Amino acid sequence: MKYSVSEISDLIKDRRTIYPKDHTPREVHRDIIERVLQNAIWAPNHGMTQPWRFTVFTGEGRKRLSEFLGAEYTRLTPPEKFMPKKHANHVDRPLQSSVAIALGLARDPNGKISLLEEQFAMACAVQNMHLTCTAYGIGGFWSTGAAITGSGMRDFLGLGEQDSCVGIFYLGYPAIEWPKGYRKPWVDFVKWEE
Ligand SMILES: Cc1cc2nc3c(=O)[nH]c(=O)nc-3n(C[C@H](O)[C@H](O)[C@H](O)COP(=O)(O)O)c2cc1C
Repeated sequence: MKYSVSEISDLIKDRRTIYPKDHTPREVHRDIIERVLQNAIWAPNHGMTQPWRFTVFTGEGRKRLSEFLGAEYTRLTPPEKFMPKKHANHVDRPLQSSVAIALGLARDPNGKISLLEEQFAMACAVQNMHLTCTAYGIGGFWSTGAAITGSGMRDFLGLGEQDSCVGIFYLGYPAIEWPKGYRKPWVDFVKWEE
């Protein structure tokens, strides 16, 4: 065996979504952020397009993101659908977490690889990031929504016309007890043809 399967299985099972409101202000150090990103890019990707373009917001940089997301939620939401709690989430989350990483997705200029496959590659990268966070005892949260995945955010990040942002990954040390996960028994999801 090349690695400890039981340790890897424990890590995978222990990976938890921990929301920014449950993060402490403790700073996640630069070397940890760099390791998270180094592991991200080892995700599989069709055609070696390596579509990930990360923008890392820390410290004062988070304020710019917070202001943008608050304004963008307001801009995109019809008044009758405006929810103060949702608006507050957009404003507060970047400030509640030590680090917010915007998940930019660059389209392959050759257009050979479908958007869906590029999104798969990004999802694999985020899983690498989330597992790495777990190893450090850091919680992560993949946040989506119209203000984050729309063209306004794409422009805010300086991405190309064909590109998009597929979410923000928030990292922080948990202020709560590490949450317990839940899944149905694995056999419920599997059909064997033998
Ligand atoms: C692409 C993606 C988007 C998500 N968006 C949200 C979200 O908008 N709000 C939310 O509460 N959780 C969101 N989650 C987190 C899920 O709620 C979480 O993964 C699920 O509850 C399982 O918990 P676990 O990650 O701790 O195993 C998202 C997860 C993924 C993969």
